[in-house]
Amino acid sequence: MIIALGSDHAGYEGETPYKPAMQHYIESLGHTVLDCGTNGPESVDYPDFAAVLAKAIIENRAGLGVLLCGTGIGIGMAANKHRGIRAATCATLEMARLSREHNDANVLCLGQRILTLDQCTEFIKVWLDTPFDGGARHCRRINKIG
Ligand code: RB5
Repeated sequence: MIIALGSDHAGYEGETPYKPAMQHYIESLGHTVLDCGTNGPESVDYPDFAAVLAKAIIENRAGLGVLLCGTGIGIGMAANKHRGIRAATCATLEMARLSREHNDANVLCLGQRILTLDQCTEFIKVWLDTPFDGGARHCRRINKIG
């Protein structure tokens, strides 16, 4: 699958920047990464990168997306302003799993200042591996979001 990946400068903070490491990890799972920026530690505005990633998903250039900012909150708020995006900010593995099973989330938002890199890769793996449960009740609720 093509996975869109985007972050603000938080993706390039610290000794091991998360965004390139996450790209490498997603590719190691056999997926292709569509890079939605940013690409360095200079301070940027997370809504700009959420918009690039949202557009890629809405236009079917990517099937799912992963976004990263300091907390995962701001970039998730911004992504959810785009019709057709269901972005889930997840701070636990269970949230990541349920965001696929119940909410059919198409964007996973993670916080570089909240999670370790190992947690991020673990969440990404489970999130990508977990299908939407489907069924009338989940579909009805998702349709109401739309
Ligand atoms: C940037 O400093 C920070 O505010 C941003 O990465 C994010 O945490 C916002 O929600």
